[in-house]
Amino acid sequence: MTITNADIPRVGPETPGGQWLRRYWMPVGLTSELYDIPQAVTIMDEALVLFRDGEGRIGLLGQHCAHRGASLEYADIENAGIRCPYHGWLYDVDGKCLEQPSEVGGKEFCAKVRQVSYPVRELGGLIFAYMGPNADNPPPLPNYSPLIDHGGIRQIEPVRHFDYNWFNFYENSADPVHVWILHGASAYGDQTWGDRFFSADDPPDFEPVETPYGMKIVMSKPAADKDGLVVDEMSLGFPSILQVGDTEFVHGKEDPQKLMNKGSDIEHFMFMTPKDDNSFMMFTVDYYTGPDEKFFEHLKEMRKREEPKDDRKPYDKRPLMPFRGNVRAEDIVTQGTQKLVGERQEHLGTSDRGVIMLRKMVRDAIADAAEGKDPKALHLEENAEGLVKLDSFVGVRAE
Ligand code: FES
Ligand SMILES: [Fe+2]
Repeated sequence: MTITNADIPRVGPETPGGQWLRRYWMPVGLTSELYDIPQAVTIMDEALVLFRDGEGRIGLLGQHCAHRGASLEYADIENAGIRCPYHGWLYDVDGKCLEQPSEVGGKEFCAKVRQVSYPVRELGGLIFAYMGPNADNPPPLPNYSPLIDHGGIRQIEPVRHFDYNWFNFYENSADPVHVWILHGASAYGDQTWGDRFFSADDPPDFEPVETPYGMKIVMSKPAADKDGLVVDEMSLGFPSILQVGDTEFVHGKEDPQKLMNKGSDIEHFMFMTPKDDNSFMMFTVDYYTGPDEKFFEHLKEMRKREEPKDDRKPYDKRPLMPFRGNVRAEDIVTQGTQKLVGERQEHLGTSDRGVIMLRKMVRDAIADAAEGKDPKALHLEENAEGLVKLDSFVGVRAE
């Protein structure tokens, strides 16, 4: 099967890209936000409903009732499952029909009905779903390091929603050049660590490197006051996880000397889950193992200072203005105005080598999934502590 770039951003159940993504566990909600009412979610072009039954079991079912299609977003929660408000059909978390109050006679009809359902698991505050072909025997849900308690503190940000294709965000992390250009007047421009590591006049070298979990971009620059290289890595975990290694220094403004001596104490995972071809959600989880008990309060304070500078001219009605000065707003303006990968006119240069390599790796993974093979990083190795890490190193490394 020939996979092209145009297959990458499509996420529906009949598309090769969507079938590839469905081979992995994907976050679909936060434990802290799942109350005693059903929650409508669209995941990879499928309308679903997430709920917790009266016994505490979590279910992810098709949103439209198998009877005549009313939305289960308005269903009632019961101990045994979820009851459609229209005619009272009751489903358990596995999609099994338990009751049809309007049907007389035995349970034969009930036994014939099955509501779409997907396996779910909770881990470290996130709810993951597996929507792939092996529902009875899914791959293991990886013990992603920031989701497992190991002596530090965790922070889960509110879920962020984006109105453009997920892959625009993902491949942006394979493109370090934008960091010192697009973000050169915001947090990355302000930073003082690593001898002005991201200076646009003297940018770091970078190389994309394949890893067992996906790939990483290794940026490096000779250290000025000592031997070795200052290194800053961004990781792309398959299929849709990002880790930025330098949050502590770029946004937390941690003492640059600490970076030179010890490196970073934070893991910063961003899990992306496509809602459809034109929108996705992001679940951001940080895990901090350093000495500052108030680290996340400090980080929040520092991030508040990163408001976009509003120097709009009175006639400037462009909808995404202002954006300069805030890294996240800068990313949205640029990624959100690109068309889908495979549908854009592009002229790729040498500085796009990370993006080119990533797209090839993703096309290969999609092809593997289409051929029934396990795609890359479906089974990830744990370290000695039982954790699955993305090794985004930030610090000084011997040359
Ligand atoms: S539509 Fe749900 S029970 Fe009839
Ligand atoms: Fe960015």
